[in-house]
Amino acid sequence: MGRGSLVSYLIVLVAVLIESSCVVNSSTIIKGKIGINIGSIIKKWKIAKKNGYNIYEGSWVYDDSYPLYDSSACPFIRKEFNCLKYGRLDHEYLKYRWQPKQCDLPRFDGIDFLTRFNGKKIMFVGDSLSLNHYESLLCLLHAAVPKSLILQQTNENSTSVFFKDYGVTITLFHSNYLVDIEMEQVGRVLKLDSIKNGDLWKQMDILVFNSWLWWYRSGAKQPWDYIQVSGKILKDMNRMDAFRYGLTTWAKWVDSEVNPLKTKVFFQGITPSHYNGAEWNKPGVTNCSLEKTPWSGSTYPGGMPLASKVVNEVLSRISKLGIENLLNITTLSQLRKDGHPGSHNGLGGMECTHWCVAGVLDTWNQLLYATLI
Ligand SMILES: *[C@@H]1O[C@H](CO)[C@@H](O)[C@H](O)[C@H]1NC(C)=O
Ligand SMILES: *[C@@H]1O[C@H](CO)[C@@H](O)[C@H](O)[C@H]1NC(C)=O
Ligand SMILES: *[C@@H]1O[C@H](CO)[C@@H](O)[C@H](O)[C@H]1NC(C)=O
Repeated sequence: MGRGSLVSYLIVLVAVLIESSCVVNSSTIIKGKIGINIGSIIKKWKIAKKNGYNIYEGSWVYDDSYPLYDSSACPFIRKEFNCLKYGRLDHEYLKYRWQPKQCDLPRFDGIDFLTRFNGKKIMFVGDSLSLNHYESLLCLLHAAVPKSLILQQTNENSTSVFFKDYGVTITLFHSNYLVDIEMEQVGRVLKLDSIKNGDLWKQMDILVFNSWLWWYRSGAKQPWDYIQVSGKILKDMNRMDAFRYGLTTWAKWVDSEVNPLKTKVFFQGITPSHYNGAEWNKPGVTNCSLEKTPWSGSTYPGGMPLASKVVNEVLSRISKLGIENLLNITTLSQLRKDGHPGSHNGLGGMECTHWCVAGVLDTWNQLLYATLI
C-alpha cells in the first residue's frame, strides 16, 4: 500500500468510524457526570435509530459501572423482588449491560426521563410482571432524584407514583388477562371479547401492556370458571387459542379507542421463566437457583417461546399496531437465567419467573427509554 493510499484508507476509516457513531460507549461515561454528555449522546442515538438497528439483538457484557442504583435505597421494591435483602450473596448478576450487536444504547438517564416527560402519564397494564417492570422504573427514577417530592395513590385496580417536581405520573394497573373477568350466575367468566377497563388506560400518554403468565393457570390458581368467546360460554378451550383471542380483542381495542397522536402503546414481549434446564443445556435442572451468569452469546438454545408467535402475529397482521410497538425483551431475558430471585425472595419458595430489582428489568426500562427518545 503506497503512502497516498494509506492516508486515504485512514481517512475512509475515520469517516466510517464517525458515520457509525451510534457507538456511544456507555461504559466510558463516568457516573455522576452523565448530565454533561446527555445532549450529544441523544443526538448520536437518534442517528442510530434512523438506521433502524435492531436493539434487541445482542449480548450481555460485564460492566463495572452497573448496577444503575443501589436497591437498598429504593423504597419501591416488593419483597418478592428484593433479592439482596433476602440474602442473595452472588452480585455478579447486577453487573451486566445489554449490548446490541449493531450499536450502543444510551444509558438510562433518570433526570432526562423526568424532564422530557414532564406533565405526562405513563401506565403499565398487566400482571405481576408489569408490577416488576414498574418497580424497576420507579427505582431508576428515584435514584436520579432521591430528594424530590414523591406522592403515592392507590385505587381499586391501580397504584400511582407522582414525581411532583417533574409532573410525571407512573401508574400500575393490575389486569392479569387485559380482557375482563365478570361474575355471572354460572360463576366467574373470562370474557375474551370484552375490555371494560380501557377508559382510564386511554387517558395515558404512554401505555405498556403485558399479559401471558395467567393464560395457562388451571385448578385452584385459575381465577375464572368459564370462558366466553363469540357469544358462547365454554368450560375450557385451548389456552393458546384463548390467548390469541384475548390479545386480538386488546389489539382491536387499541385500534379503535387509542388516539395514536396522544398515546404511545407498547406490548411487552413474552417473559421467559427458567425452570427447565434443558433449554440452557442443563437437562435435569429444574430451577434457576445455581445460575450465576447469563447465557453467553446472542442466541438462546431453547428458542423462542411459542406464545411469541401469537404476539407477533397479532401485532403485525391483525391490528394497525406493528412490530415497532413490541418491547421485544424475550430473547435478551431468556439469556438471563441468573436474573431471577430463586430462593432469595420474601415469599419463600423457588422463584424463577419474576426478576430481581435491581437487575434485568432496568434494561427493559433502558430499552423503553431509548425507544421513546
Ligand atoms: C425479537 O428479537 C429477537 C432477538 O433479536 C429476534 O430473533 C426476533 O425476531 C424479534 N422479534 C420480532 C417480532 O422482531
Ligand atoms: C377494577 O377491576 C374490576 C375487574 O376487572 C372491575 O369490575 C372494576 O370495575 C374495576 N374498578 C375500577 C375502579 O376501575
Ligand atoms: C432447585 O435446583 C437444585 C439444583 O438443581 C435442586 O437441588 C433443588 O432441589 C431445586 N429446588 C427446588 C425447590 O426445586
